[in-house]
Amino acid sequence: MADKKNLRTPIVCVMGHVDHGKTTLLDKIRGTAIVSGEAGAITQHIGATEVPIDVIINKLGDPRLRDRFIVPGLLFIDTPGHHAFTTLRSRGGALADLAIVVVDINEGFKPQTYESLQILKRFKTPFVVVANKIDRINGWVSQKDLPFAATFKKQSEDVQSRLETKLYEVIGELYNQGFAAERYDRVTNFQKTLGVVPVSAVTGEGIPDVLMVLLGLAQKFLEVNLQYSAEGPGVGTVLEVKEEKGLGATLDIILYDGTLKKGDTVVIGSLGEPIQTKVRALLKPRELSEIRYESKFKQVNKVTAAAGVKISAPGLEGALAGSPIRVATEETLDEIVAQVKSEIDEVRIDTGSVGIMIKADTLGSLEALVHEFQKDEVPIRKAEVGDISHRDAIEASTVEDPLYSVIIGFNVKVHPDARDFLQESTVKVFTSDVIYRLVEDYQKYVKEQQE
Ligand code: GTP
Ligand code: MG
Repeated sequence: MADKKNLRTPIVCVMGHVDHGKTTLLDKIRGTAIVSGEAGAITQHIGATEVPIDVIINKLGDPRLRDRFIVPGLLFIDTPGHHAFTTLRSRGGALADLAIVVVDINEGFKPQTYESLQILKRFKTPFVVVANKIDRINGWVSQKDLPFAATFKKQSEDVQSRLETKLYEVIGELYNQGFAAERYDRVTNFQKTLGVVPVSAVTGEGIPDVLMVLLGLAQKFLEVNLQYSAEGPGVGTVLEVKEEKGLGATLDIILYDGTLKKGDTVVIGSLGEPIQTKVRALLKPRELSEIRYESKFKQVNKVTAAAGVKISAPGLEGALAGSPIRVATEETLDEIVAQVKSEIDEVRIDTGSVGIMIKADTLGSLEALVHEFQKDEVPIRKAEVGDISHRDAIEASTVEDPLYSVIIGFNVKVHPDARDFLQESTVKVFTSDVIYRLVEDYQKYVKEQQE
């Protein structure tokens, strides 16, 4: 068995369609721990919640399990909206080690459910599907916080069969998306078959089962990936660039390797040259018991992976969401600046030759879009993070081929002067907050043009 000390906390990203219950699920995982007097054990991070293994084991109710799991806990990322996952990129893959896809069992699959699955497939991230809101199934009698098998047994035959019907609709949809899936307690090999856990995030039914499956996945798939060096230089990903009162531009980051200290020199990806700056303050959210303080944050001197933290430092304005942040020393600075720059350049495209233009809100979503269009062999002239500007509009209008006089915008705004210009031009603009919609809309457009 691996040495426990060298395994960091796995990062778990919660994904799924709007309103299907991502936040409620996390609140429930956190909440029952608070109710059972373990509030102090749960660490609130910026953009994330850390649940230590002991708390999870208590919830599972079988102390013998303690020796079976070597991970120190789970770090759940709770960024609103479904873009979290594409933002949470790291070089060559996903930052999240595991994921939960939440589906409302009564509503079934929605655009962002499909989107989540496509992203997970691309990154080969192990995940579990939560079929949520089982308490809404007609006739369901809730059994607060019970594991699924126990509450299922207490339901009438009618209700049981209603659940199974809905569950197998979800499983059928997963199959259509290329995933072999089964109710999780019928899965014999999680390497081959995806587990689906029926849950109510409101009553807590099935939550212990979700935690159990996650720990199992962490154990099976991640041991090697989770090896890290706590003393090494910090490496992370920028979640968000945020203005804070009195602090100016700050960065919310997820640190996934090493240690980050106050006063460290860090290098961060931006649209131009990488930013080099010194960490002025590392900020964590205050506990609920500390609300008497004026500031929402408290300072810490250092953080060790995996962790979510807010960074205050001079010159953060141009930082890019989804870009890397790395700690450097005098000796390593040049090398690390070059590394960060090349990582950004790998995603950005500026060929100046023929092709479409892509604009996206974060480096991660840009990377995903570029990947999708390249897969379809669509030439790309330019791919960049940022809103659609007047200059972009003019550039696209100089392209003669209507197939490529096109701007694809993912979760970005069109500047007013660009809008005016575009209205008068023949440039075709597609905007959406669903990646595969943009790809489909463009394919449709190409077909129309060719007819
Ligand atoms: P976004 O962050 O907007 O994408 O939504 P979300 O996925 O985080 O959904 P959220 O947790 O905010 O839940 C949306 C609504 O569904 C809320 O009114 C919840 O109370 C409700 N809800 C969530 N889970 C359950 C559940 O298991 N049962 C029932 N009955 N309602 C639920
Ligand atoms: Mg939410």
